[in-house]
Amino acid sequence: MQLEVVLERAAQALADEPVADRTVFLARLERYWPDLLDGLTVAYGTEALSLAPRVVDLAVAGFRARPHDLRMLDLRRHVEPDWFQSPRMLGYAAYADRFGGDLRGVAAKVPYLAELGVTYLHLMPLLQPRPAPNDGGYAVADFRAVRSDLGTMDDLSALTAVLRREGISLTLDLVLNHVAAEHEWARRARAGEPRYRAYFHVFPDRTLPDRYEQTLPEVFPDTAPGSFTDVPGLGWVWTTFNSYQWDLDWSNSDVFCEFADLVCFLANAGVECLRLDAIAFLWKRMGTDSQNQPEVHGLTQALRAVGRIAAPAVLFKAEAIVGPAQLAHYLGTGIHSGRVSDLAYHNSLMVQVWSSLASRDARLMTTALRRFPAKPRSTSWATYVRCHDDIGWAVDDADAAEVGWDGHAHRAFLSDFYSGAFPGAFARGRVFQENPATGDRRISGSCASLAGLSAAGDDARLVDLAVRRHLLAHLVVLGYGGLPLLWMGDELALLDDDAWADDPAHADDNRWVHRPRMPWPVASRRHVDGTVEHRVWQAIRSAVEVRSAMPAMHASYEAELLDPVNPAVAAWVRRAPAQTVVALHNLSESPQVWPRWAVPLDGPLRDALTGAAVDDDLVVLGPYDVRWIVLR
Ligand code: GLC
Repeated sequence: MQLEVVLERAAQALADEPVADRTVFLARLERYWPDLLDGLTVAYGTEALSLAPRVVDLAVAGFRARPHDLRMLDLRRHVEPDWFQSPRMLGYAAYADRFGGDLRGVAAKVPYLAELGVTYLHLMPLLQPRPAPNDGGYAVADFRAVRSDLGTMDDLSALTAVLRREGISLTLDLVLNHVAAEHEWARRARAGEPRYRAYFHVFPDRTLPDRYEQTLPEVFPDTAPGSFTDVPGLGWVWTTFNSYQWDLDWSNSDVFCEFADLVCFLANAGVECLRLDAIAFLWKRMGTDSQNQPEVHGLTQALRAVGRIAAPAVLFKAEAIVGPAQLAHYLGTGIHSGRVSDLAYHNSLMVQVWSSLASRDARLMTTALRRFPAKPRSTSWATYVRCHDDIGWAVDDADAAEVGWDGHAHRAFLSDFYSGAFPGAFARGRVFQENPATGDRRISGSCASLAGLSAAGDDARLVDLAVRRHLLAHLVVLGYGGLPLLWMGDELALLDDDAWADDPAHADDNRWVHRPRMPWPVASRRHVDGTVEHRVWQAIRSAVEVRSAMPAMHASYEAELLDPVNPAVAAWVRRAPAQTVVALHNLSESPQVWPRWAVPLDGPLRDALTGAAVDDDLVVLGPYDVRWIVLR
């Protein structure tokens, strides 16, 4: 009954739209209305009944403002809903200023991305932040303006149009958990406006904050201890991250409506994927760690429904750095299956790559990855080796115990190893946010530095091994299943930025060591034979090309881990109807073998990466070699 009323109202509001557009919109509204209503009900209970029509009004307004070419893109995505799972997909993540200077500069660098085969570009936060420090832009002061030194909203729309023409989809962050203390909502809360005070979690004294903190983990224990900040004239404000990042109170449905509107606004600028930053933290609950609460998935489902009704070309990508059991929910389990995010970062795969390179042992990786429940077919992992963040050693104690290791000791080993303190370690990283209470030490550093390239100096043999490690890590993320994301500079094996601390606003955050400015003269060495840049670029480029023609690399076919019959080799199989691929990875600097009988394929074989035949009873893998074995 309610749906009929809502449809009728929407039809009237769209009366002056072309009839085809109106029809399509109403069909989507009818299809996704239950998702919207059910999602809102999870978070807001019976209030959802009055809230849902209000949200539909926002979707109608969003659709009315949607440019024609983006409405066409919506239709193209309707007929190819698995576009982002295609083996052709390759992601690239960068800071707009550090990559291209500003948005126009990024547009000018599109040929570089195209040369690499990029089809998806994540530009790090570029909406107007508070003045530095601003957590690399994750403290947003205005969601409707581009950072002034980067350009304008018009430049953003122009950039997305250029990217679309090249077949590159733009991803931007939607920072949902918090706003900068300088955001208008926070300013008006400080000024005493009740409407905006209710956008935040504000407490008159420490009574409740103290109770909450008994079960809250610390995100930045070193530089921003505690989860609450005393704001003069207001009270104790919930600030999970830095004291200048105020957590929003999502139990207030006005906050939901603000973000429903923002989803449409960014979609209409041509953004094709929204990275839901720190999504796990949205809902707070006393006595818990206030992460992964069921309401988070209800809220995501409702926001997703808004997107699917008003701008279905847009994907959602969950940034939830949580354990496997929790992570599965972000791609949708149970009632939320297929209704929340399309993509989620595979943090565990990333951690296991580094862990297994340090231990030269595939057993923990195999155990940990097998622990992941199957995800909905229509969703994908975002796989990556490095990103703008540090690496936290999310190694599960039970997984470690299963291979006979002690979880705590292994995590301590990894911190020692990747900070270069462990005798003989090839890595040269830096400790980030040491937590004396838990013993945690996270690690910053570029992929190449962590893989051994800095420590190699000019020793040709060590350089060779470091490059091989760097490439192995990238082949894992290209071959595991998902949308592979390259972090800017890794296509050239860039080392740490030694000048990272020169900017005083960065000096207490060593994640900047792996967020360099793109050294374009170094990048041009990708065409110079005999350089590391050339070797790495060519190898990645070629694997990307090979992959794009392999049916088994479609992201819906998941990796099944094979028993590591040789513990120094990580192996998995992916089975598509048209092709099966068996991927082998030598995690060590010594040659290894893998028996032919442990390759689950019948018939003559070849390695798709090199084209070479694989005929012998033992597959021989040189140091850090990778094979993608298929039938000949
Ligand atoms: C995400 C970002 C991280 C940022 C945090 C707070 O985890 O990746 O860089 O510090 O959110 O917004």
